[in-house]
Amino acid sequence: MTNWSSRPTWERTLLLTVEQVTAGYGRLEVLHDVSLHVEEGEIVTVLGPNGTGKTTLLRMLSGALNPWSGSVSFAGSKLNKLLPERRSALGLCQLPEGRGIFQTLTVGENLNLGTVNGRGSAADRRGDLERVLAIFSELAGRLTAQAGSLSGGQQQMLALGRAVMSRPKLLMIDELSFGLAPRVVSDLFKVITELRDNGMTFLIVEQQAAALRISDRTYVMRNGRNQLDRTSADLLKSEDLVSSYLRG
Ligand SMILES: Nc1ncnc2c1ncn2[C@@H]1O[C@H](COP(=O)(O)OP(=O)(O)OP(=O)(O)O)[C@@H](O)[C@H]1O
Ligand SMILES: [Mg+2]
Repeated sequence: MTNWSSRPTWERTLLLTVEQVTAGYGRLEVLHDVSLHVEEGEIVTVLGPNGTGKTTLLRMLSGALNPWSGSVSFAGSKLNKLLPERRSALGLCQLPEGRGIFQTLTVGENLNLGTVNGRGSAADRRGDLERVLAIFSELAGRLTAQAGSLSGGQQQMLALGRAVMSRPKLLMIDELSFGLAPRVVSDLFKVITELRDNGMTFLIVEQQAAALRISDRTYVMRNGRNQLDRTSADLLKSEDLVSSYLRG
């Protein structure tokens, strides 16, 4: 399989940097001095309990919310007040909440919609579709099925496949596992790992420690603050510590 990234994996570059960001709603400060970074080719997870500010962090990164202070840069550009559409043009994309699948269109049509804002020639797009189908094998046999007839897990796969078709530099995912059975979550995690091995980069926010198994690095966040910044392998060795943070 062709690699999505032309850069060898040992030449990692910094893709996203968040430095001492505060942000919130009205007068409510939700994020307090949050700092994190994501390198190209990594799966980075932000783990934290209910109401800690994970969705707020992703909203701030996708441009729905401006930071009050601190700075955010992506692929060499300062983002702070950049409009959401400019951010996605730079390759900073988020899997839509509620999956954003067009229920009455087929699986194939939904996947091809991922390329509307994408780059490249028709041949490139056909190549992308082939690569996506090689990884998303569950979708390959269902290209002509109506998206609305798929199970919840398959729809999440389709949403992910469609996002991949738009060739994001960094794909942000809010609670991928939400409402899905553990087996389905583990299939999705497998696909994400395979995509990472093909050069894609992910920032995932999760309440469930299961995400530790697939991420390279993990930030634990509580009450809008970074509490821990470790390799995921380190955190897996301290499960008690992690569960104490996740209790909120
Ligand atoms: N639109 C909003 N207006 C005002 N306050 C909000 C808004 N959205 C979220 N909040 C508050 O911000 C805080 C963080 O919420 P956020 O949704 O970012 O947390 P979360 O970590 O994503 O939680 P969850 O696990 O429930 O998804 C909470 O106190 C919440 O009540
Ligand atoms: Mg949330």
